[in-house]
Amino acid sequence: MHTFLPIAYFRNQFVPFAEANISIATHALHYGTGAFGGLRGIPDPNNPQQILLFRLDRHCQRLSNSARFLQYDLPADKIEYIITDFIKQNKPTSSFYIRPFVYTSDLGIAPRLHKIEKDFFVYGLELGDYLSPEGVTCRISSWHRQEDRSLPLRGKISGAYITSSLAKTEAVEAGFDEAILLNSQGKVCEASGMNIFVVRDGQLITPGYDQDILEGITRASIITLAKELGIEVVERPVDKTELLIADEVFLSGTAAKITPIKRIENYTLPQAKPLTNQLRDKLTAITENRDEGYKDWVYTVALDG
Ligand SMILES: Cc1ncc(COP(=O)(O)O)c(C=O)c1O
Repeated sequence: MHTFLPIAYFRNQFVPFAEANISIATHALHYGTGAFGGLRGIPDPNNPQQILLFRLDRHCQRLSNSARFLQYDLPADKIEYIITDFIKQNKPTSSFYIRPFVYTSDLGIAPRLHKIEKDFFVYGLELGDYLSPEGVTCRISSWHRQEDRSLPLRGKISGAYITSSLAKTEAVEAGFDEAILLNSQGKVCEASGMNIFVVRDGQLITPGYDQDILEGITRASIITLAKELGIEVVERPVDKTELLIADEVFLSGTAAKITPIKRIENYTLPQAKPLTNQLRDKLTAITENRDEGYKDWVYTVALDG
């Protein structure tokens, strides 16, 4: 059971989380016509009166883009302002996750996006590790990631997560921790809520934007950091068999951070994970505001301000 932050943003105001409820007839509940964001916040290890958010601007822009797919005009700066206020209202004291959500809030039937009321809410919950930082086992899913021609995959559209749910459950019920989905071309795509990276012969390889992946913010950050560390990065289609003989494979995402993969199906990966660890240490230092070079990736909210 989750511990939710006490205050939610709902119908243009801040209310107790328990009072932020919607009707069973809400349109988005039936048609998956919502879109969400997901970002982590932590109290600054050097100043608990300050909250640190990783790349807030990117998260708000992606949600604003997702809203456009739903024909809802929600500027990124408005989302940013509301999230900042949301944090000041809640004053979190431990690591947490923020879930902003746009959706068709009308009551009524018929799948559509035009001439229908939309709304935006934000809530949060305490969140430690989403996946074990020691590493996870993965199953190659029998469910494939959708194609961009049938769904706007550059947005985090709520209805799309049926595929993630099917894949995750299939993997967990078969004794694995996580699922790796192939795309409709049979190439490696991503996990249920994370992007994927492969290390082979010192090269860092990840499926490109043309592979029906979600444009992960952690993924983009890792690519920038790897290049700065002098690691060669290649974005290209990845075959399933490359995963099985890789030197290292890891997942990346806001919830998962950088999570190494220990085993894929019945193939155990090497225990040594030098590149994964190097990138993880760098990313952790940045999110905790300890890296002078990337202060502009960390947004601070003063709780006493
Ligand atoms: C399907 C999917 N892929 C990848 C990611 C990773 O994206 P990010 O790094 O922006 O959290 C997420 C999480 O948001 C996701 O839901």
